[in-house]
Amino acid sequence: MSNLLTGKKGIIFGALDEQSIAWKVAERASEEGAQFVLTNAPIAMRMGEINKLAEKCKAQIVPADATSDEDLNNLITKSQEILGGKIDFILHSIGMSPNVRKSRPYADLNYDFFHKTIDVSAMSLHRVLQAASKQDAINEWGSVVALTYIAAQRTFPDYSDMAEAKAMLESIARSFGYHYGKAKNVRVNTISQSPTWTTAGSGVPGFKEFFNYADTMAPLGNASALDCANYCLAMFSDYTKMVTMQNLFHDGGFSNMGINASMIKGE
Ligand SMILES: NC(=O)c1ccc[n+]([C@@H]2O[C@H](COP(=O)([O-])OP(=O)(O)OC[C@H]3O[C@@H](n4cnc5c(N)ncnc54)[C@H](O)[C@@H]3O)[C@@H](O)[C@H]2O)c1
Repeated sequence: MSNLLTGKKGIIFGALDEQSIAWKVAERASEEGAQFVLTNAPIAMRMGEINKLAEKCKAQIVPADATSDEDLNNLITKSQEILGGKIDFILHSIGMSPNVRKSRPYADLNYDFFHKTIDVSAMSLHRVLQAASKQDAINEWGSVVALTYIAAQRTFPDYSDMAEAKAMLESIARSFGYHYGKAKNVRVNTISQSPTWTTAGSGVPGFKEFFNYADTMAPLGNASALDCANYCLAMFSDYTKMVTMQNLFHDGGFSNMGINASMIKGE
């Protein structure tokens, strides 16, 4: 522990259970001295798992559906009241596709579902940033990180309409990163993470196969949820204060690989 985030205040979206990347971020941020509010969709609260995390991290929970401006405005206001001032970091760790959940083939997507995928998984980042900037809720040099996947750049057929959502998410990070950077020196980045065993991850058909494929292809292997959490913490810290509008690959080198001997030999 290095007290990397001592004195920093934040909001962490998306801790559903112990597998969630956001769960690991919360545990590690707490160990590094941060104070934060935990949030998730009201429906996800029913599982009750998040209460255990809140107790462990001495954090309060404010439910918010990331597709509701009313919920998000309330979250931003309440978080500042609870934490006693402006926020230094936000983790957007949210993804959901009804088309994937209901196994719709890509050439036969349901467009109401597609709207939902985009709203939950991409537009929600814009909503969060807009709510925060309107309330001037983030301190100068504050850092917002959203989690994404390489299907935004390359084709992974079973990722379906989540690929479009991630492409939009990364674009919003660049566009809002410009505006928020100019106005308040607030940083916005996406972290493109390796396949990771979580509820959202393992819901994608063929997940085991592309988890193993990425693990074999990447010289360092797949990055774990804990590794991802540590990278998020680095992005929340002042050591990365000039990094903004970037899509940062956190994938053990996978994104720059073509082929390797292990793949050819089937090892
Ligand atoms: N697991 C992977 O392989 C992988 C790889 C790269 C990127 N990611 C991304 O990481 C992020 C976190 O996913 P995870 O793998 O930890 O899975 P997860 O299922 O634990 O987290 C997804 C979260 O999104 C929340 N969510 C869904 N709809 C919501 C809404 N309307 N409002 C608020 N929250 C809502 C869920 O409740 C859940 O907590 C996602 O953006 C995901 O796409 C995951």
